[in-house]
Amino acid sequence: MEKDQIHNLKNEAIAQILRTGNKQELERLQIVYLGRKGKINQFLKELARLEREERTDIGKTLNEAKKAIENTLKTAFKRNLGKKEKTEEWFDITLPAPKSQIGHLHLISQAIAEIERIFAAIGFTRVRHPEVEWDWYSFEALNMPQNHPARDDFEAFYVQAPPSKKGQMCLTPHTSSGQIREMLAHQPPIRMINIGRCYRPESDISHAPVFHQFEGLYIDKNVNIGHLKGMLSYFAEEFFGPERKIRLRPYDFRFTEPSFEVDITCDLCQGKGRLSNGQNCRVCKEGWLELGGSGMTHPFVLKSGGVDPKKYSGFAFGWGVERVMMMKAGLNLPDLRLLWSPDLRILNQF
Ligand code: PHE
Repeated sequence: MEKDQIHNLKNEAIAQILRTGNKQELERLQIVYLGRKGKINQFLKELARLEREERTDIGKTLNEAKKAIENTLKTAFKRNLGKKEKTEEWFDITLPAPKSQIGHLHLISQAIAEIERIFAAIGFTRVRHPEVEWDWYSFEALNMPQNHPARDDFEAFYVQAPPSKKGQMCLTPHTSSGQIREMLAHQPPIRMINIGRCYRPESDISHAPVFHQFEGLYIDKNVNIGHLKGMLSYFAEEFFGPERKIRLRPYDFRFTEPSFEVDITCDLCQGKGRLSNGQNCRVCKEGWLELGGSGMTHPFVLKSGGVDPKKYSGFAFGWGVERVMMMKAGLNLPDLRLLWSPDLRILNQF
């Protein structure tokens, strides 16, 4: 009888006990190893045949093996106490639990939170206005009467509801209807940032039928284009970084006069239109990227909102959240509609 044999027996017994989650099987193993005719006792009988010195030495090893098997069995029985008989499985409550997944805000919600923070810092209050809106707020009050060609740019989803004095109902095609609602609700000074969903019947790789806009409106005494430009520069620097510059390009909106399209210097070529290797920049046209519309509030619009254009002036701008967000991140999505996809393979990347 060798010490190695005893060690092997001990290891085999412990491995079997640990693999077992069932009481009957544990009882069987107890008999096999520790029973009267069990394996340990067989070894003990053989001890008698050994020389005295060897006997003490091997006897000690055998005793240790017996203790180890007994202890393992004892713990295994305890672990089985709370369990229903006959179940084959058990689980080890001391194992570390699998990590639970922590989600994060959607890319668009992250952008909205940041836009809100930037404008809050200069005293603009975030507001929300109805997404299902009367034609009057969306168009007429904004100086776009029925059948006016300017409406072509703002095709809307109309809702089948009985028309009222304010016309038919539609899903807001832009956040500018919030300008009117805000003026009717509050006297100047007004500093609003209206962030909301907009709907237009367009769907292709660069248009989703649902998207977001953020609309700023500032009305007070003596507001001029300098204020507009200063505030837009502030936003561009905060949102896109201190290196970026903006410019105003004349444009035409019915609800602002004068009106501008706002451009920002391209990040890739730093507004030069050419890369350092002399090639034309592939992201922008001549160093500038288009951000969105803005302008000085038209007197007609002030009057619609019950504000006296002789006393007050203001500016407004309305830009796409998805658009500025993609420009900031340098995201080049093959299809803008992917932003609305619930596919975790996309969402997990941000
Ligand atoms: N409402 C315009 C649009 O959706 C943007 C705009 C808002 C322009 C405010 C000027 C002033 O395109």
